[in-house]
Amino acid sequence: MTIYSRILGTGSYLPEKVVSNQDLERMVDTSDAWIRDRTGIAERRIAADDEFTLDLAEKAARNALDAAGVDPQELDLIVVATTTPDRVFPSTACLLQSRLGAKGCAAFDVQAVCTGFVYALGVADQFVRSGTAKKALVLGAETFSRIIDWTDRNTCVLFGDGSGAVVLGASEEPGVMSTHLHADGDYADYLHVPTGVSTARAVLEEGRAYVEMNGPGVFRMAVSTLGRIADETLEHNHIDKSELDWLVPHQANIRIIQATAKKLDLPMDRVIVTVDKHGNTSAASIPLALDTAVRDGRIKRGDLFMIEGFGGGFTWGSALIRY
Ligand code: UT7
Repeated sequence: MTIYSRILGTGSYLPEKVVSNQDLERMVDTSDAWIRDRTGIAERRIAADDEFTLDLAEKAARNALDAAGVDPQELDLIVVATTTPDRVFPSTACLLQSRLGAKGCAAFDVQAVCTGFVYALGVADQFVRSGTAKKALVLGAETFSRIIDWTDRNTCVLFGDGSGAVVLGASEEPGVMSTHLHADGDYADYLHVPTGVSTARAVLEEGRAYVEMNGPGVFRMAVSTLGRIADETLEHNHIDKSELDWLVPHQANIRIIQATAKKLDLPMDRVIVTVDKHGNTSAASIPLALDTAVRDGRIKRGDLFMIEGFGGGFTWGSALIRY
């Protein structure tokens, strides 16, 4: 008997503080018209000074567990995708496990930046398929605002904070039908924070502690790579693009999303778009979009959808999922 993982419930959380494009006009040389036109973003959420990635993760986790009807003590696995952990160690997943009271289960973080949630889902799916875990909590949670230079208009208009989660359960019915994970580290310098734990002393002297990005270079690679991974996902499952009900893409830029939708011949009303409301929340963006569409009734039980993401690394990935 084949075992699959199925999504039992979804959850998400956005911090209360809204920063609009007009607010940014007062901070850097930009305009609401430029930001909307080039990115599709209208506003983003920023965590309060005393609010951290773990706090965001906990709220999304509790929402997802409630929706799934799963008690934290039933969890066998917690995987948190984050680029912005609260501590160097222990992992955000371990801190979350303690908050939730899910004692004893495996808990670790994965780091694949904007593709983080797809990576986390891919890992958790393997645990469930192999029989190692029966119930898994998978999250993307970020306080990306903390690694942004708020005087750099090339990056500060793009990103925001948030979290999203799913609870997976073992099932004889799919579920997650396939996951596809890739990386090419040759592109590390295209989108990165140059400082890290081991290099901090050396790099911080240069004052380079924030996101640096070759925007047009990332844009070009994202569009071509996401087109290819959509094909790879459909071919692997022997399905035609016309069988897809929804696309739930990483929310970085409406123009990247539109290019992937066009490649799949999907009209935009079959694409879940939330980038206007929260900007690029990195690993949180896909589960945030998914939870939005599940809760507003667009994505229903039995629907077939693809998630896909692209980010620093470069990393990219996708999954085909029957909800
Ligand atoms: O999840 C993966 C993470 N990152 C991404 O997916 C980002 C991918 N890249 C992008 O989304 C786009 O490249 C951006 C939105 C970052 C930029 O859009 P673009 O159409 O590639 O613009 P550009 O970088 O080619 O810049 C066009 C112009 C430049 O001025 P000049 O040289 O033409 O005079 C920029 O200086 O727009 C200027 N510009 C801005 N103007 C107003 C750049 N940022 C801003 C800004 N406000 N915030």
